[in-house]
Amino acid sequence: MAVTRTFSIIKPDATRRNLTGAVTKMLEEAGLRVVASKRIRMTREQAEGFYAVHKERPFFGELCDFMTSGPVVVQVLEGEDAVKRNRDIMGATNPADAAEGTIRKTYAEGIEANSVHGSDSEENAAIEIAFFFKPEEIVG
Ligand code: TYD
Repeated sequence: MAVTRTFSIIKPDATRRNLTGAVTKMLEEAGLRVVASKRIRMTREQAEGFYAVHKERPFFGELCDFMTSGPVVVQVLEGEDAVKRNRDIMGATNPADAAEGTIRKTYAEGIEANSVHGSDSEENAAIEIAFFFKPEEIVG
């Protein structure tokens, strides 16, 4: 299996509860390596651009409110089959449906405040990484 990259966000509900380290530890223990990381406050424009695919969905406005409500940690993760590996350790979107031992089952507060984002394909990973990072900010 090839070593690939994915994009992750530790969301405001997790940074608010001081869980950046705990979430990152779960990512690392799942075989992912943090090759870029920065703590930012997303602007409304960034949130709306990042989630543009959801702009017709009923939860879009609230999702953008939530993602701009506090600091987030954006990360590039590297590992074997990184996109799937990250999706597996994240767990289902709704923590009520997430498997035991996943980040969302362990830490998420609800379907919106679900602690982490992870790219859902390698194509989207490349787009999302480029949305937040310059190539020289990623050190593998
Ligand atoms: P989605 O891409 O479906 O999930 P995932 O994050 O697991 O890839 O949705 C993106 C985010 O939108 C999700 O993490 C939280 C938010 N969301 C809601 O607030 N309500 C909803 O009903 C859904 C489906 C998503």
